[in-house]
Amino acid sequence: MRFTDKVCLVTGGTSGIGRATCQRLGAEGGLVVALGRDAADGAETVRLITQAGGKAIFIACDLAKPRAVAAMVKKVLAKFQRVDVLVCDAAMMTFEPLAELPLTQWDLLMLVNLRSLAQLTQLCLPHMPPGSAIVAISSVHAHQTTAGVVPYATSKGGMEAFVRGMSRELDIRQTRINAIAPGAVDTPMLWSNPNVKNGVEVIDKATVGQPEEVAAAIAFLASSEASFIHGTTLAVDGGRLAQL
Ligand SMILES: NC(=O)c1ccc[n+]([C@@H]2O[C@H](COP(=O)([O-])OP(=O)(O)OC[C@H]3O[C@@H](n4cnc5c(N)ncnc54)[C@H](O)[C@@H]3O)[C@@H](O)[C@H]2O)c1
Repeated sequence: MRFTDKVCLVTGGTSGIGRATCQRLGAEGGLVVALGRDAADGAETVRLITQAGGKAIFIACDLAKPRAVAAMVKKVLAKFQRVDVLVCDAAMMTFEPLAELPLTQWDLLMLVNLRSLAQLTQLCLPHMPPGSAIVAISSVHAHQTTAGVVPYATSKGGMEAFVRGMSRELDIRQTRINAIAPGAVDTPMLWSNPNVKNGVEVIDKATVGQPEEVAAAIAFLASSEASFIHGTTLAVDGGRLAQL
């Protein structure tokens, strides 16, 4: 029980890796705040956690709306007065080559994937006690990628640079910050990816990970077991990045 009574904020808590992370933190005693846009999916995350004996609430929040993000953090602080764990998991993708991409889509993606990490970090940090942790969910696309997803790959590279940079600004004993770079994981985001559907990005089904396997790594980085790990990215990809 590494998260007993710790307030754990998880973006993307309504599905995939985010939901699995909520469940894992909840199973280990965390007071889970699952964030997302869909109330029914949020209620399902809460149901899964409470049915297993954990504690969780859902707060609706669209990361593309910075004012809504600020209001959500206010709500969390009014209820719990602190944030022990912040997991920035939610993300979107676009699939046009840059030459054809409306830059409004670029701006939206950066808002959701990257700026929200900066905003949530900025808003939560003053309320994060000694021993607290931030985990940002990047992607193997920060390191190796395909055509058509330049904004996504750029945002993920930015998240990892953000984590590195912030580790220079944060006291390791107060708040640690790290990133996870998942490989192919069995979630809606993987199977709805047009590049995966049309074979541009080849996925060997035998090497697809489960959301719970990534959640386990996120929980590790968020826990005191990772007390000397700061400013780094852990690939959780079944060895994908090591492939020749
Ligand atoms: N599944 C994979 O193969 C894979 C691989 C590498 C990285 N990742 C990363 O893992 C993270 C989780 O993705 P997943 O695979 O669980 O997919 P998912 O589709 O289940 O989760 C993505 C979540 O982001 C949320 N989201 C998107 N736009 C949002 C917005 N404007 N406001 C609030 N929430 C928003 C979605 O509602 C969804 O809950 C993402 O950061 C993704 O980039 C996934």
